[in-house]
Amino acid sequence: MSTKAVDKLTSAKAKKELDKLARDIAEHDRRYHGEDAPAISDADYDALRRRNAEIEDRFPLLVRPDSPSHRVGAKVSPKFAKVTHRVPMLSLDNAFSDKDVGDFLGRVRRFLGLKEEDEIAVTAEPKIDGLSASLRYVDGLLVQGATRGDGAEGEDITANLKTIAGIPLRLTGKPPSVLEVRGEVYMTHKAFAALNKRQERDGKPTYANPRNAAAGSVRQLDPAITKSRELNFFAYTWGEISELPAQTQSGVVEKLASYGLPVNPLMQRCDTLEQLLKVYRQVEAKRARLGYDIDGVVYKIDSLKLQERLGFVSRSPRWAIAHKFPAEQAETVLEDIEIQVGRTGKLAPVARLRPVTVGGVVVANATLHNEDQIARLDARIGDTVVIQRAGDVIPQVVTVLLNKRPKSAKPYKFPDACPICGSHAVREADEKTGKMDVDRRCTGGLVCDAQTVERLRHFVSRDAFDIEGLGGTMIELFHDRGLLKEPADIFALTEKPEKVSKVLAEHRAALSEERRVAEGKEPVKAAKKAVDKEDKVVANLVAGIEARRKIGLDRLINALGIRHVGETTARVIARHYLTLHAFLDGMKAEDALVELQHIEGVGGVVAEAIHDFFAEKHNREALDCLLKWLDVQAMAAPSKSSPVSGKTVVFTGTLEKMTRQEAKARAEALGAKVSGSVSVKTDIVVAGPGAGSKLKDAQKHGVEVKTEDEWLKLIS
Ligand code: IVH
Repeated sequence: MSTKAVDKLTSAKAKKELDKLARDIAEHDRRYHGEDAPAISDADYDALRRRNAEIEDRFPLLVRPDSPSHRVGAKVSPKFAKVTHRVPMLSLDNAFSDKDVGDFLGRVRRFLGLKEEDEIAVTAEPKIDGLSASLRYVDGLLVQGATRGDGAEGEDITANLKTIAGIPLRLTGKPPSVLEVRGEVYMTHKAFAALNKRQERDGKPTYANPRNAAAGSVRQLDPAITKSRELNFFAYTWGEISELPAQTQSGVVEKLASYGLPVNPLMQRCDTLEQLLKVYRQVEAKRARLGYDIDGVVYKIDSLKLQERLGFVSRSPRWAIAHKFPAEQAETVLEDIEIQVGRTGKLAPVARLRPVTVGGVVVANATLHNEDQIARLDARIGDTVVIQRAGDVIPQVVTVLLNKRPKSAKPYKFPDACPICGSHAVREADEKTGKMDVDRRCTGGLVCDAQTVERLRHFVSRDAFDIEGLGGTMIELFHDRGLLKEPADIFALTEKPEKVSKVLAEHRAALSEERRVAEGKEPVKAAKKAVDKEDKVVANLVAGIEARRKIGLDRLINALGIRHVGETTARVIARHYLTLHAFLDGMKAEDALVELQHIEGVGGVVAEAIHDFFAEKHNREALDCLLKWLDVQAMAAPSKSSPVSGKTVVFTGTLEKMTRQEAKARAEALGAKVSGSVSVKTDIVVAGPGAGSKLKDAQKHGVEVKTEDEWLKLIS
């Protein structure tokens, strides 16, 4: 498109450009309103409209009958019945700078014949980034709800709007007998994130932003779908009204609130330009924390008498203006795609961008979510992309501008090896649905630097090595100071107590120094007592670690942190192989996977995860190093001759002589299978005081019920 200065345009050129602008804007309107799928950024759209208005300003005779400035939004969709708005639903003129706002007030004063020093009361409120809707109440009852459509005619979405929790079906107080409330339907960031997660899970397309999600949700043919989407509403103006309940904009909005309609709490009344701009900056500062998208601040002349005198110019009122925030979408070049590895091994693609200002902040990185998202966008290095920043959400790539794609750009191939440790990166299939997980994960759990801290935390946790005196913070500290990288390093700590002591002392000194500075106190001389204390901590830690060199096979397997292998599965596997030797041999065997799959209680996904873990050389090496420190205890073979071997047992209610965990372990050691729920397959239910539904189930299925004492007698 030509961007020649408007005053340099010839009439012929202007005519041609207006013609193209009318067509382009109509197409963008159709995509935005009709399909909820915009093709260009809001800023670019605004720029097209501004250019159109500027040319029309200079060549008033060339204004086309179908000029975009006569139209507000899109044509109504044939999906819904039409509603003719009795009072047109108009749009707002935009201001992009403080000067534009000053000019607006200047125009208002001139129009009303006021002097510069005359104060005018003006309201300032957030411009909600959703879609506008009109709610018609007759005698306090909601009778019709409609979209804006093209401003003259909208779509009847009454059934859908009625499902929005914040929209009252019946007004309270004494509303005018006919009241058309107008406001914005929007979606919070939280609801938006949850919705997209569900869409993704169900294999449905995700929405680019909360506004598109709100629009898409409201324009559903099935109101049940709208209902399942968490939507909200703010009332900010009105259409047809049988009598005005107040003389000012702010007064009427207050009344709307008194009828039970949700109104935005941030509206303020101002008397000067300075005050308006102050509210603008206040709202802008709050923007990221609001939890919903806003794209500017709307100023409205407060007096309704003055509003009436001011009237309208084509599509917008002279008495109001939207002061827009700097654009939150921008175009830039995708210079590279970098793969980051999360603490749980997830490979996350990050777009490295040519830095660009979005919403007043320079953005150089954006998320590309996952492998599928890159494929969906067909994002390629070298592409020009539209990025978006909403509130404090991480910037994301929304679209790729295919018409700007360089010839040399090749489809992106997602790596199948971890960029941090080189281990295989795999996508798992969900056992039940057979669907691929959206994330690719690194399998080098024990050695991958990105996952080290998380893995070590798990390693020392209660159901794994349960090392006394070694908590998460200490692990992080030792990792940062280069003392810990893999599990074997934990045991190596016992051979360097001075080093450990030094790291701890330095850490403590840094902490208390931080505290001293924060509290503004004088420096103190390091006390000898602190060092003594450190020595004691280290001695306890060393003892705690030493005590765990003797460890059960089940705990060891759990500690490895293999995906999908928790405490229970680890025990099942340990009971199957019984000794470390047999377990390691089993993992080396050619038919390892088949054997794993045949263990009762181990599914295909679990078997594959274990197999993947041992297929990774790095993991085997790390385990070998660890085993040099350990004395791994074999599992007790389940007794075949016990009176409960082969029986399925359920514990319920409070056990008084042992913990649930202990009871379970003893039963399993005697060859029983412990289950969490009662069915026809259950042989014995052990019920303590307070037993509820499981006891009832036992009676229903005719299962034998024992007290804790009876059970103990049976197994003793
Ligand atoms: S007043 C006649 N107030 O912005 C004036 N509009 O760009 C009617 N909007 O169509 C609009 N927040 O969908 C008004 N606090 C607010 C608003 C608001 C968002 C939307 C509305 C309007 C569009 C104009």
